[in-house]
Amino acid sequence: MIREIVVYPDKRLKLISKEVLTFDGVLADLLDDMYDTMIARNGVGLAAIQVGVDARVFIINIPLEDKDGESYGEERDPNDQPKDNTLEVINPVIMESNGEEKFQEGCLSIPGVYEDVQRAKYVKVEYYTRQGQKKIIEDDAFLAVAIQHELDHLNGKVFIEKLSYIKRKKFEKEWKRKQKEGLI
Ligand code: CO
Repeated sequence: MIREIVVYPDKRLKLISKEVLTFDGVLADLLDDMYDTMIARNGVGLAAIQVGVDARVFIINIPLEDKDGESYGEERDPNDQPKDNTLEVINPVIMESNGEEKFQEGCLSIPGVYEDVQRAKYVKVEYYTRQGQKKIIEDDAFLAVAIQHELDHLNGKVFIEKLSYIKRKKFEKEWKRKQKEGLI
């Protein structure tokens, strides 16, 4: 079932999401709904708080081929993305990160905005599957960016907070204008 997306500057996006303690049908429904919602919006990643649930859960559509250089958050044809290519991440913890890389990012909660963001190049993350199985994932490309972007959502952060002061001011001005004009 498609759920409504929480749009910036909704205060819920600032919440620190809570750890998942029960790996049950409620969690499975949430993950399935998040998938439906992400696909309906041509998204490539979605955190639970973006559908109003403050649980430490996010999903990422892993590109089928190497999409290095493409931006994160850019619209993608959902038909290119089978469901078994979706990474479901619960209670993630970064174990290691290093390096630096700039990558263009976007977000379903801030539609139409794409900006370069600097993050760690490499991350190693421990997480749980929907069945409660502990896993480890590491990456130094697209997935590393995606994981850091989505993990920020679980900590009440959105990617525009990483912009320079000037760029952030420009964004806020533009966003208010779009809101006034009813474009968001
Ligand atoms: Co986002």
